[in-house]
This record gives sequence, C-alpha cells and structure tokens, in this order.
Amino acid sequence: MKIGVSGASGNLGQEVLSALRRQHTNVALVGITRTPSTVPAPVEGREGDYDRPDLLVQAYRGIDRLLLIPSADLRPGVRGRQLKAAIDAAHYAGVPHVVLVSAAGTKEVTEPSLGAPYWEGEQHLIRTVSQWTILRMNYYAESMAEEIKSSFGSGILAGLGPERVAYVSRDDVAAAAAGILIGEGHAGAIYNATGPATVTGEERAALVAKVTGAQVSFAPLSRDQLQGGLAQAGLPEEVVSAILEIKSNFVAGAFDIVTGDVERLAGHPPTSFQDVLSETLEA
Ligand SMILES: NC(=O)c1ccc[n+]([C@@H]2O[C@H](COP(=O)([O-])OP(=O)(O)OC[C@H]3O[C@@H](n4cnc5c(N)ncnc54)[C@H](OP(=O)(O)O)[C@@H]3O)[C@@H](O)[C@H]2O)c1
Repeated sequence: MKIGVSGASGNLGQEVLSALRRQHTNVALVGITRTPSTVPAPVEGREGDYDRPDLLVQAYRGIDRLLLIPSADLRPGVRGRQLKAAIDAAHYAGVPHVVLVSAAGTKEVTEPSLGAPYWEGEQHLIRTVSQWTILRMNYYAESMAEEIKSSFGSGILAGLGPERVAYVSRDDVAAAAAGILIGEGHAGAIYNATGPATVTGEERAALVAKVTGAQVSFAPLSRDQLQGGLAQAGLPEEVVSAILEIKSNFVAGAFDIVTGDVERLAGHPPTSFQDVLSETLEA
C-alpha cells in the first residue's frame, strides 16, 4: 500500500510521517510539498502545489490513501480554493481513499470566516470522492502554549468571556491521522481529535501558575479592548481578526468537545494540556 501525506514539510505532516514510519515499516510513504527536497528518505518526496492543480494530479498518482493537510494561508478564499483543487486532483488521479484534516466545530459559514475553508473542503470531499474520512482537530495545545509564552510578562491571559476548550497536542492529531491512514473501516467517518478534558480560562491560568510558579490570571475583555491591545502589540490586521474569531469560538463552544477518538485511532490516551504546558513553558 502507498500512503501519501500532503503538507509533508509542515509540523503536522512531518509528525504524521514519523508516526507512520515508527509503526509500519512495510508501507510505502510519499510526502507531498512544494519543497520535496525537505522530505527525508526513505519517504519519497513529490512536488505538489495546491495552487497548481496540474502538478497535483501527477503528485497524487498511484497513491492508495492520501492525507490532505490544509495550508496555513489565512487570506480569505485561498484555503477553500486550494482544498477543492486538491480534492479534485485526488479524484482525477484515481486515489481510492482521501482523509481530510479539518477543524472542530465546523459548520456552514461563509468567507471571510476562518471556518469557511473547512466547511467547503468537507462538503466538497463528501460530494467528490467515494471513500473519505474527516479528522477534525481541536485547538492545538502547542499554539495556546506559544500564545501564553508571548503574553507571559503581563501576568494576564486574555479572552472574550467564559471559554471551554479541549486543547489537543499536535502529536496526538498526527498519531490519530496515522491510525486512520493505516487502519481499516474508517471510510465515511468524521472523527474529532481532542484532548482528554475541556479547560476553562480560569483553569488555563491556574495550570500556567502551577507549571511556572508565576502569578497569572485569566481576564475576559471586551472585543474592543482585546482588538486594541493586539493592534498596539503591532500584529497585522488579518492576524488580529483571526485571533478575535478564535477567541469568540472558544466562548461559543466550538472547541468544547471531548471524544475518545485519539485513543481509539492512535492506541494511546491523549496528552493532557498540563503536560504540553510543562514541556513548552519549562523549556
Ligand atoms: N488547530 C489548531 O489549533 C491549529 C493551529 C495552527 C495551525 N493549524 C492548522 O493546522 C494545519 C497544519 O498545521 P502545521 O503546523 O503543520 O502548518 P505548517 O507547519 O505551516 O505546514 C503547512 C504545510 O502546508 C504546505 N503548504 C503551504 N502552502 C502550500 C501550497 N500552496 N501547496 C501545497 N502545500 C502547501 C507547506 O509545505 P510547503 O511550503 O513545503 O509547500 C507545509 O508543509 C494547517 O492547516 C494550519 O492552519 C491548526
């Protein structure tokens, strides 16, 4: 069997390939990226650009199971178009089974919402390919740990209201994806890769205090206050609006989902948010 992983040079793609290599030496692996020279042997590197569909059909040929990881391009309209092109290319290349990485809480929304490409991608996948699986990732624990690091000096962790998020470690998302790619019986399934528990804003601050020994508190701010603070910190406008949307999704409960999917697919329980914080903040 030949398994293809798109976004192979990225954080998630590299970890999926590592998880597959650790467990399954008898599977041929293909890493697809715009920079195939970054793909380490014995994985076969192939050039594939979501913005060049002609190249993609060639890149996906001969692959039995393909993982599509969206790019991190936040410009409105880009990721939705890229995902549709990649799904069409997989279909034309005759890939029998396509697995899409999507996001927790995906529902019908339109651009410029950050959720629109995931909604459009999921719908296009279901309509286009006969065997598909969707893996919805919760918010990365590592991304939140990075945010905490950058605001650490202030002693304040900002939010837009009461939040509940089942932060998942990126390695657990990768291990779950590898479990789908190598396993059987996953066609037509929508999984949610989540951490082991939801964490409120106050619990998040308490965990940071416990891990670092520092005085930290959670502060729900108004939208205007948060927007002003982020703009003052010099963040570009599109990043500010992405953060505001993510924070309001935290409050709306989009990431307030706990499942046993990581354990079922990866074969081990998901890492706790505290363990990711310990690893990241202590380092
Ligand atoms: N759930 C969360 O909390 C969370 C947080 C952060 C990110 N994410 C999302 O999770 C996904 C994976 O994250 P990551 O950390 O692995 O991202 P990453 O390290 O930025 O990797 C992105 C990958 O996309 C590839 N890519 C970019 N533009 C491309 C194009 N036009 N055609 C083909 N490939 C392209 C890149 O490869 P080349 O440049 O080599 O082509 C790279 O391998 C992304 O969709 C990201 O937006 C989720």
